[in-house]
Amino acid sequence: MLSPLVEMPVYSRWPLEIVRASGSYLWDRAGRRYLDFYAGHAVAGSGHCHPRVVAAIREQAEKLIFYSSALPCEARERLLRVLGTLTPPGLTRAFFVNSGAEANEQALALARRRTGRSRIVGFEGAFHGRTLATLVLAGSEHYRNLARAGAAGRVLAEHVRCLPWNDPEAARARFR
Ligand SMILES: Cc1ncc(COP(=O)(O)O)c(C=O)c1O
Repeated sequence: MLSPLVEMPVYSRWPLEIVRASGSYLWDRAGRRYLDFYAGHAVAGSGHCHPRVVAAIREQAEKLIFYSSALPCEARERLLRVLGTLTPPGLTRAFFVNSGAEANEQALALARRRTGRSRIVGFEGAFHGRTLATLVLAGSEHYRNLARAGAAGRVLAEHVRCLPWNDPEAARARFR
């Protein structure tokens, strides 16, 4: 008999099931309303289910949901034009990824390549995602140990220093 598939216990689950949202409000299954100060990791920064966002997603999904980034894509070109009006002068290139962890990992890779330096500083209590490079940089011994369980994680971890949060003196001392 097939055993049921369950999610790996990666997240500590809160006892709250949100079934719908609108603007700054969330509703649970029992119909209770909550004011959302979290905005889904800030992903829903323009409000939950904003009609223009919903319409844009629907319009694109009806045309083309996904194709490889190796091909030109009109929607990506439009996004680049908009982002170009928002980014500081001097930033001329973008690289689209699918998750926060990927974005952070690419930022680390670019910074190391650009500067030729290898050491990375992280802060206690910080969280940057669940890829190897972002886990070794996590400000929690639990996450760092998960990454160090493999050889690649151990190699990366040698380049990471973890500093206390909100302690400029400790940071200065580390860079002296
Ligand atoms: C502060 C922070 N950085 C990075 C991430 C990773 O983002 P993602 O889950 O999209 O990879 C998260 C996700 O919880 C986060 O809270």
